[in-house]
Amino acid sequence: MPPFLHVDGVTKVYGQDAAATHVLRGIHLEVPRAQLLSIMGPSGCGKTTLMNLLAGLDAPTTGSVAIEGRRVDRMDEAERSALRLSTVGLVFQNFNLLPRLTVERNVTWRLELVGMSARAARRVAGELLDRVGVPAAAWGRPPVKLSGGEQQRVAIARALATGPSLLLADEPTGNLDSKTGESILALFRDLNRERQMTIVMVTHEARAGRATDRVVELRDGLVRRDFVPCREDPSEMGSSRVHAAAG
Ligand SMILES: Nc1ncnc2c1ncn2[C@@H]1O[C@H](COP(=O)(O)OP(=O)(O)O)[C@@H](O)[C@H]1O
Ligand SMILES: [Mg+2]
Repeated sequence: MPPFLHVDGVTKVYGQDAAATHVLRGIHLEVPRAQLLSIMGPSGCGKTTLMNLLAGLDAPTTGSVAIEGRRVDRMDEAERSALRLSTVGLVFQNFNLLPRLTVERNVTWRLELVGMSARAARRVAGELLDRVGVPAAAWGRPPVKLSGGEQQRVAIARALATGPSLLLADEPTGNLDSKTGESILALFRDLNRERQMTIVMVTHEARAGRATDRVVELRDGLVRRDFVPCREDPSEMGSSRVHAAAG
């Protein structure tokens, strides 16, 4: 059995010749199913670049990326879009919600895209929004009327809509205050446990890293450290349901 996610000898070079930037220089990573992994490292070390390769938003210069044995780096554009609809959910620092749509529509459009009826999509979106802790009173509003934490919850509901087995989150708490950020991290942890979902999350905060199963630290385009964090206080990342009111 191949590992759930396999990154093998991945390099990424932007630009050419004298203008070439060697961002990733040979990344190896095997991630088992249902792991909650954080990627850390200084700004500019290639975290987002790596996430884009995992999501099939970009292709590596050399090396391979495989999800459940399927080579993402060999997929064409159409196959990669299909992958993002079926297997990979994405969450970003800036939420990336569609500002002209209601909160509910931000979730249902993805469901309709995979062929669900409008009615079924509303039901599923409602269940998801409820699960991630977005109050029903907000569902008919545009996202901008919500707090940052609530907007990120909507983005998580959208990412979950099509039942991904891999969730990729690039600094999902980067625009949130620390308390709200913690409640979002607790939500990731709960989803990871509940759904056996593999989650790869980029974070700057050591505290956030400690709440995950494994930390991979990048430096100079290589994996510099790969370790199981020791939690100072395991209770500090309690259930998201307890913290939901803070977000
Ligand atoms: N599309 C691009 N073209 C050229 N250089 C890029 C591009 N994207 C990122 N870079 C460069 O690659 C390096 C790593 O960027 P990035 O992956 O965004 O780092 P991180 O997310 O760790 O902050 C930076 O030096 C950045 O300027
Ligand atoms: Mg980045």
